[in-house]
Amino acid sequence: MNIRGKLSVLLLVFIYHMPYIYGKTVHICTPSTSLVLEAKKGEELKYVYYGTRIGDTDIQGLGPAGSPYACAYAGYGKYPDEVTPLSVIHSDGNMTTRLVVRDVEVDNAGGSVLTRIKTSDDVYPFDVDVCYRTYEDSDVLETWTEITSREKGYVTLTRYDSACIPIHIGNVWVCHMSGGWANEARIVEEPLQPGVLTVRNKEGIRNSQTSRAEMMFSLDGKPQEENGATIGAALCYSGNYALDVDTYTGRYHYFRAGINPDNSSYRLDSGRRFVTPPVAMTFSMDGKGGVSRNFHRWGRNHVLCHGNSPRKVLLNSWEGVYFDINEPGIVSMMNDAASLGVELFVLDDGWFGGKYQRSDDTKALGDWVTDRHKLPNGLKALIDSAHASGIGFGLWIEPEMADISSELYEKHPDWIIKAPGRAIVPGRGGAQVVLDFSNPRVRDYAVGAVDRIIRENPGIEYIKWDSNSGIYMHGSQYLARDRQSHLYIDWHNGFREVLERVREKHPDIVMQACGGGGGRVNWGVLKYFDEFWTSDNTDALQRVYMQWGTSHFYPAIAMGAHISASPNHQTCRSMPIKYRADVAMSGRLGIELQPDKMTEEEYAVCRNAVKDYRDVREVIQFGDLYRLKSPYDRQGIASLMYVSPGKDEAVFFWYRTEVFAGQILPVVRMAGLEADGMYTVTELNRIDDTALPFEGKSYSGSFLMNNGLDIPYRHDVEASRKNELSSRVLHLKKIHAK
Ligand code: GLA
Repeated sequence: MNIRGKLSVLLLVFIYHMPYIYGKTVHICTPSTSLVLEAKKGEELKYVYYGTRIGDTDIQGLGPAGSPYACAYAGYGKYPDEVTPLSVIHSDGNMTTRLVVRDVEVDNAGGSVLTRIKTSDDVYPFDVDVCYRTYEDSDVLETWTEITSREKGYVTLTRYDSACIPIHIGNVWVCHMSGGWANEARIVEEPLQPGVLTVRNKEGIRNSQTSRAEMMFSLDGKPQEENGATIGAALCYSGNYALDVDTYTGRYHYFRAGINPDNSSYRLDSGRRFVTPPVAMTFSMDGKGGVSRNFHRWGRNHVLCHGNSPRKVLLNSWEGVYFDINEPGIVSMMNDAASLGVELFVLDDGWFGGKYQRSDDTKALGDWVTDRHKLPNGLKALIDSAHASGIGFGLWIEPEMADISSELYEKHPDWIIKAPGRAIVPGRGGAQVVLDFSNPRVRDYAVGAVDRIIRENPGIEYIKWDSNSGIYMHGSQYLARDRQSHLYIDWHNGFREVLERVREKHPDIVMQACGGGGGRVNWGVLKYFDEFWTSDNTDALQRVYMQWGTSHFYPAIAMGAHISASPNHQTCRSMPIKYRADVAMSGRLGIELQPDKMTEEEYAVCRNAVKDYRDVREVIQFGDLYRLKSPYDRQGIASLMYVSPGKDEAVFFWYRTEVFAGQILPVVRMAGLEADGMYTVTELNRIDDTALPFEGKSYSGSFLMNNGLDIPYRHDVEASRKNELSSRVLHLKKIHAK
């Protein structure tokens, strides 16, 4: 194609994805979805349609077809019973706000389109921009608001959701995640009923352990994986949040998502801007699976740090040695890791401390100097040794925290969070306190500490950034008396600034977001991180459930999943090594045990798993996920698969989850393959003495998707190695016609 041809194709692509505004209609579109708003100057902004992509004729017919025509971002007061995302006390005490459209601006830059609908109060000098961002290669749109006051004095914001979406009442079901430490991301699915359903977090610092800031709405009844109109929404924010679905009267459920306003009223001075975090939203006719794949693609391409680079297989020291760190021990652990085929070693908690030694979790947090008693030759000796073994080196830090027994706290007792005039309430180990990131000096300290650790130890290529405490005894020693209720919000603005500054200095370093396990699983932080630690619970059977839940919004590339010891340290359950390896292989594979305590069989299976994973990791890390059989359906198995974007390869996982004698297990139909393609099946991570009946055979995609393969229930191994929990990993490779 000549240059003119290319230019016209580019122009067409550009026009196709531009929101078009004719008269008063704003059409915000992605390749397969449309959001239609009515933006008449001087009138309230109206939400008219969200669903599959529609054209001009249908848009013009939306009114007669019965569209919601609800206010898209309403201030409290006109009808006090209305569900509104914004509540403001104006500078003169007036509690009502009525926003009307002033203008619509569209900005197209670098593959994304930003539509900014400018609204203002019709009486007060108070402005709210309602913003939408779309990408030409993604069906996820992001929406947020920017609130500015021009009133004399200050206004007080008492509610400031990022978005409010009407969903027509019918047989609508919601899917969300709840849980707790070591039990993250348990799926909850329920029909929406009259009343208010709230999913929220108020921990202050991390926000995804007890529940998650994401919801899916299945508009056609009980959620299905590959069928049914489904909306997915994720609030991208690191702090306290509230998602609620309000069904009180009328035809609609109102879904609001935003920063949790509890104990967080915010005074906005004249000329200042308050930006709410984005809600990422998608719509799919392909059920929950379609929503998940849209989120995974958008996340890898537009949010996740280094979202398109393959992740290394690592070995983390935590469950292997905990705080028992010494140079010869770690050097030998790194050698063993290298011989297992691992590519990166991560030294977890316990390596630091000066005056106070980090021998348990009660001391030294904040004193980021190498403990010379444990590591007399410093980190340098370890990094050199890792490199000599041909692997990379990573390090655990917790820069947001201090212990009461630390030199940092002794020097700066005013840097920590606590209510002025009250005693400290410590967290982990009866010792941990949170640094006050609303204070710019504390932020400078944190950026400096991380930067120094990385610069003084050249060769560190990975950071595990942990956060093991919430806020206790709410209060800031820095914020003014009349701004104490800003703490939760200002802390997170400060946290974001710290991460931005660290990333500016160290754009290439790989960083894991950890929050005492899965406390930092949120798209709001993943812009700065390459991955997250899914849970402190490494029990493979429970991981099947937790990873299943997590996969609803997060891709495998970001999901740290490690093979650990048996019996498991959290559940005391004994698990076969193959099962442990097969479950970890469905995420970003790692190992978290002491290799020199492994049996010969464990060593051999692990080594093979690492090798097989390295061969197929691109399919798992960049492929499309299909959840085939849910462990929550209690049919004795769970199964999922990843299919490469070109449908050339797939990796299929099958796990037994409940075992009874005489049980008949369902045959799993595959998904996502090319119907006419022929795929050769090979078992990965094989332990059986005999090959599977279909090993090496080829089947059409349509056969695999309409019929599936009957997986043998048990492993063909000698009696002493037999175990109840069997599992399989199959590699499917398309045969290309010559
Ligand atoms: C948290 C993390 C663990 C480990 C410990 C270290 O609990 O989730 O993986 O790093 O801290 O103290």
